[in-house]
Amino acid sequence: MNELEKEAIKILQNNWRNGFSIPCEGLYPFQWKWDSGFIAIGLAYFDMSKAKEEITTLLDAQWKNGFIPHIIFHNESDSYFPGPDYHHSDLHPKASKKYKSTGMTQPPVTGFVLEELYRISKDKKDILQYIETVIDKVYDNHHYFYNNRDILNEGLVYIYHNWESGTDNSPLWDDIFKTMNPPKYTFERRDTTHVDASQRPSKREYDHYLHIIEVAKEHHYNDQKIAELSPFLVQDPLFNSMLIKSNQSLIALYNLIGNNQEKVNQLKTWQEKSIHSFNKKLFSEKLGAYIHYDLRNKKPLEYISSSSFAPLFAGIPSKERASVLVKTLMQKFGKKNLYLCASFDPSSERYEPKKYWRGPVWINLNWILYKGLKQYNFENEAQRTKEDTITLVKKFGFYEYFDARKEKDNAGYGGLNFSWTAALIIDLLHEK
Ligand code: GLC
Repeated sequence: MNELEKEAIKILQNNWRNGFSIPCEGLYPFQWKWDSGFIAIGLAYFDMSKAKEEITTLLDAQWKNGFIPHIIFHNESDSYFPGPDYHHSDLHPKASKKYKSTGMTQPPVTGFVLEELYRISKDKKDILQYIETVIDKVYDNHHYFYNNRDILNEGLVYIYHNWESGTDNSPLWDDIFKTMNPPKYTFERRDTTHVDASQRPSKREYDHYLHIIEVAKEHHYNDQKIAELSPFLVQDPLFNSMLIKSNQSLIALYNLIGNNQEKVNQLKTWQEKSIHSFNKKLFSEKLGAYIHYDLRNKKPLEYISSSSFAPLFAGIPSKERASVLVKTLMQKFGKKNLYLCASFDPSSERYEPKKYWRGPVWINLNWILYKGLKQYNFENEAQRTKEDTITLVKKFGFYEYFDARKEKDNAGYGGLNFSWTAALIIDLLHEK
């Protein structure tokens, strides 16, 4: 076995706790929703029972209304802010009684992760039996989204916090934060004791993050109230791509299991509507890329980020549109002196190559990009994405994020021994 793969396995083994994985020692000591999915893909290559357990534990924390929280606080830890006592998920009447969590979610990757487990497993009968025990919970999660977060009934769901996007500190949110003037809260950050402050968000940015949660908490995390009052309400192309990709996977898996025609029909109805609206509303002809839409302020956010290319993974663009998109990708993000794929448009004045989601390369977005390019037969671009990804990790280590500039000789930032970096490298190393 390749040395890099051995190292990746060791990281995942070290980050395994009792029934779930932490994203990273110190910095992120709990279970995160979308991390969990990516991690399960890596675990599946060497320990399928842990991969299943990871997903089972996540779904065990699901609320009665189908909602799955973004962080599940399995253990007491005072090394993280804001923790369970701040979020107070039990304010919501349908929240889990068993687990403390946040009252927000993260991109719905679990559906397609189940299909990935099926693809990777050598024992198809066994994995399908497992999938049968959990698939309805994932379906219920999609049902929650379409019934509570698609306020215009167009098949596009909203996120109400930048932390729901997964791309927490993207410059995309700057426009929205400009419309807010939150109080200056008193609190003690913990992230900057683990990571250099210049690579993390500022205190003022945190005031905005907390203020949105305060509004949600005031209304006990009620979805309708959030839709009505949250200063942050966005239709995100990455989030919606993950939902659409997962719809597709649920359809495929239900068909393999059989006897679920009603759910398959419902998924197909959602799917058709979502893809149609996505192409109509979230594509900018001017930029040649998919963009975010600010529902609260009723305007498109005209910026290109690595989220702009996620629709390839979900099969959303037509072939012609996919070509336009890949041209934009290579012109803006694919210059010879840059590793694919910066998290934000490198030609923008908001680009910050060292700071969190404001520029650095993230391995999960690269993985999504690679798979998307493959599906549309952009073979050269896919290989380049894969090679750049492996090179970054080989050269600098299993970091949380990386500088896209090739001239840097110290390009690994954020947490080290980061779980999804390890997990997805394992998967990429198994790709031809
Ligand atoms: C950071 C990332 C988020 C991730 C979390 C745990 O907050 O922005 O996407 O889920 O870390 O790894």
